[in-house]
Amino acid sequence: MALGYPLLNSPNKKPPSQQHTNPTMKLPLPISLTTISLTILLLLLSTSTQVQSKNQDGLTLQVFHMKPQKQLSWQENVLQMQAKDEGRVEYLSSLVAGRSVVPIASGRQIIQSPTYIVRGKIGTPPQTLLLAMDTSNDAAWIPCTSCDGCSSTLFSPQRSTTFRNLPCGSPQCNQVPNPSCSVSACSFNLTYGSSSIAANLAQDTITLATDPIPSYTFGCVTKTTGPSSPPQGLLGLGRGPLSLLSQTQNLYQSTFSYCLPSFKSLNFSGSLRLGPVAQPIRIKFTPLLKNPRRSSLYYVNLVAIRVGRRIVDIPPAALAFNPTTGAGTIFDSGTVFTRLVMPAYNAVRDEFRRRVGPNLNVTSLGGFDTCYNVPIVAPTITFMFSGMNVTLPQDNILIHSTAGSTTCLAMAAAPDNVNSVLNVIANMQQQNHRVLFDIPNSRLGVARELCTK
Ligand SMILES: *[C@@H]1O[C@H](CO)[C@@H](O)[C@H](O)[C@H]1NC(C)=O
Ligand SMILES: *[C@@H]1O[C@H](CO)[C@@H](O)[C@H](O)[C@H]1NC(C)=O
Ligand SMILES: *[C@@H]1O[C@H](CO)[C@@H](O)[C@H](O)[C@H]1NC(C)=O
Ligand SMILES: *[C@@H]1O[C@H](CO)[C@@H](O)[C@H](O)[C@H]1NC(C)=O
Repeated sequence: MALGYPLLNSPNKKPPSQQHTNPTMKLPLPISLTTISLTILLLLLSTSTQVQSKNQDGLTLQVFHMKPQKQLSWQENVLQMQAKDEGRVEYLSSLVAGRSVVPIASGRQIIQSPTYIVRGKIGTPPQTLLLAMDTSNDAAWIPCTSCDGCSSTLFSPQRSTTFRNLPCGSPQCNQVPNPSCSVSACSFNLTYGSSSIAANLAQDTITLATDPIPSYTFGCVTKTTGPSSPPQGLLGLGRGPLSLLSQTQNLYQSTFSYCLPSFKSLNFSGSLRLGPVAQPIRIKFTPLLKNPRRSSLYYVNLVAIRVGRRIVDIPPAALAFNPTTGAGTIFDSGTVFTRLVMPAYNAVRDEFRRRVGPNLNVTSLGGFDTCYNVPIVAPTITFMFSGMNVTLPQDNILIHSTAGSTTCLAMAAAPDNVNSVLNVIANMQQQNHRVLFDIPNSRLGVARELCTK
């Protein structure tokens, strides 16, 4: 249900008056940092190569990490990612809080935020395009050639023999906000802060890995205005209605896994594996929890956190799953740095600082409050889920400046200006792990896997 994408509003369809509400968002970072954030997700297409394979081992799709087009300093990079994270976590928090308002201002940030992409093909003959992977979103949207204001590679419906617009009478059209009928198409408008996006509801064949998915429903973006248009297509891997998983149940049986490469490396390819075949067998699982109010999100039960050998003291309410308030813990591929609700984060941070050395000077950088200007030895951090402990290696805990002079604990407290009840296990903490989403068995698996090349 992420990104305010209209298809995602089902089943709890919101009144249009609320969909366009624009909540104010407080960004604790300097404004100047947020204004340059728009460039970061532009892609260097030339560095991406796709390797597809199909055999009895199933389907594998290579995952690329997005690379900023502009050469940015390490600090700029980190701060940009964090600025975007703020918006995303606020957005996710607002989703889970059960409010019917999509926080559009943060949605603007969020569109730019998913940092891992896959390459897909759409249409007949196939046109290649890049899609941002987002596990907290059901949407598929694609910038189309008719698009006025789109900035990235565009899909040309005219050049596809299998493209069709969905008519107003189609059931899918009932699930978009503010639908309107043009000659033969269902179209709709979205507002993101100061930007607006218009799209046609459409279908075409999309190919991820090697299997064509015929009549895949997505939003064909026709117009964007304002400073923040979606830079590329979006591949929502949530599990709500109209998601990729729902649309490919026969093919992939609501099962997929990914390995995200390190975001420090520039080449890096990991993989998105679709379908139950060839998924890891030696993997630890924790049950997936269902929140009917936020059907796309992948909730798990985080029961405790260990720093070094000590299980830190966290009030149970800070971790408890509550479908009504939305409280609990999710795995998310689109947030960069893990966010814990304040009491949980404080407990982790305090123990971390104690273990690193109580006499060392702690500095802050942007939203990170535990940074050191001297080399440190960090304790391990273990997320203890029901049935599964995940101990993070140092690379998943620390972020280092390129010069090596600054090291920060790469986690933060959840933004405290929205209902901050949600813990988000983010992509930096997941990198070099295989994360398996097994919806039929309602479980999520995690296993170490080096996929940074
Ligand atoms: C979309 O926005 C345009 C103006 O930009 C407006 O004319 C049109 O009526 C809007 N469509 C819907 C469905 O709100
Ligand atoms: C990227 O890959 C190329 C060859 O595929 C290799 O030469 C280069 O060292 C790699 N760079 C990084 C940062 O891993
Ligand atoms: C900590 O910072 C203070 C002030 O910046 C400085 O005087 C002190 O020497 C530092 N302590 C250590 C252990 O580096
Ligand atoms: C996780 O680690 C704790 C010790 O810190 C242990 O008691 C527990 O059994 C472990 N859980 C699993 C599922 O391995």
